Amino acid sequence: MQKDPPQPIAVSGRFFLDIEELITDPVANKETEVDIEPAEPLTAERMQAYADQVLVSDVLSYILDTSIVKILINAARIAPSAGNNQPWKWFYDNGRLFLFHSRERTNASGDIHNIGTYLSLGAAIENLSLRATQMGLICIVEPFPMVGGVGDELVAVIRFRIAEKEEKDELVHFLEARCTNRNSGNKMQISEMQISEINDAVEQFANIGFRLEYSREKIDQLAAIIGKTEKLRIFIEQGHKEFFETEIRWTAESAEKTKDGIDLRTVDLSLKDITGLRLMKDLRAAKLLSEWGAGKAIEKLSADGVSSASGIGVLTVPVLSKEFSLNAGRAMERVWLAATKAGLTVQPFFAPIHHFALIRNHMEHTLPSAISAQFKVLYDEFASVVALKSEEPIFIFRFCYAEDVKVRTFRLDTEDIFFIGNNA
Ligand SMILES: Cc1cc2nc3c(=O)[nH]c(=O)nc-3n(C[C@H](O)[C@H](O)[C@H](O)COP(=O)(O)O)c2cc1C
Repeated sequence: MQKDPPQPIAVSGRFFLDIEELITDPVANKETEVDIEPAEPLTAERMQAYADQVLVSDVLSYILDTSIVKILINAARIAPSAGNNQPWKWFYDNGRLFLFHSRERTNASGDIHNIGTYLSLGAAIENLSLRATQMGLICIVEPFPMVGGVGDELVAVIRFRIAEKEEKDELVHFLEARCTNRNSGNKMQISEMQISEINDAVEQFANIGFRLEYSREKIDQLAAIIGKTEKLRIFIEQGHKEFFETEIRWTAESAEKTKDGIDLRTVDLSLKDITGLRLMKDLRAAKLLSEWGAGKAIEKLSADGVSSASGIGVLTVPVLSKEFSLNAGRAMERVWLAATKAGLTVQPFFAPIHHFALIRNHMEHTLPSAISAQFKVLYDEFASVVALKSEEPIFIFRFCYAEDVKVRTFRLDTEDIFFIGNNA
């Protein structure tokens, strides 16, 4: 008796997989493996030692009561972060607020030049600054106050002043409403007014470029490119591991317990999708699925998902320096808040950014060669669609008119991310 061919498995939303042309041997070659030393835990003592080394500058800081600082931290705490890894620790001492990169929460080898981390930390600074403005305070942010190397763990020192006149920034009212929404959109045209509101959100950042593509033709072209990069990521051993083992929280209980990662309930997947995803957990199973011809069905779903957008935004920086990345994070958050205000939903796509950065920064040898060749082609297509010259793309998001999310992501408790120094 002839067996029925296995049915294609649909995996939608952010999990864009087409496998057929791709895998020769999905297991990365040995050359691509990188050993990273585990990060030294960032204890309150170590943060105090940093704080003691940073000179009290001429800029006078208004000494805030710690209860006020907590209000500011609670605004920063709900900022978005890559894979919801919340790579921050805050330390308040001597009227100054220190923001640290909590290295034990990030994976250096999966985040070239710490782009994802600095974007997330920039978003946290922007949230904090918006809340401060609302409370009549001005934040003076000094990025990376210590010189190079280990000192990069200290990302910023923030001092405060009382504002002389009242400043208003409407975006503060959207801090809680902002979220990542992975639901499909209805392709409705964005109005001129909303386009200009979103563009205005980044006007203040001299070195950050922003393009908002909203013609159907460009959205479809970008959707195809983004979809392909997302799927390629899954077939690189490290990307696969990060995605399936580090980022995803398979059950509500595990999301609640770790208070980080991506809760699968926020991804709007059907039972069939989830079954497909569970199978993909094993790279060998993914290879089998490709042999069964599941790839084409999955590719179709992926392209449809991204092209359901009403617009696709791209942020750029002149070079991938830590200062620009941090500032781009502030810009990213402002665009996200402005889109939320305009009634649009937002979903970032980081796989193209990370892999394009590897290709552009001569680190393609960290990828299996067949895959890096594909990323090169995809980058050239991308650069041509959004007319990039020498600038580096640093963030891509799609804007949709879509249903609201039903489940919100968790955050670490304030006590886990906020510490008070000896001189507070
Ligand atoms: C730098 C960065 C990269 C991200 N990349 C992706 C991505 O590739 N796909 C996605 O669906 N969400 C992505 N996100 C969204 C995060 O997963 C999300 O912010 C986090 O889970 C917290 O959820 P919230 O935004 O709903 O508060 C990214 C966010 C940031 C800041």
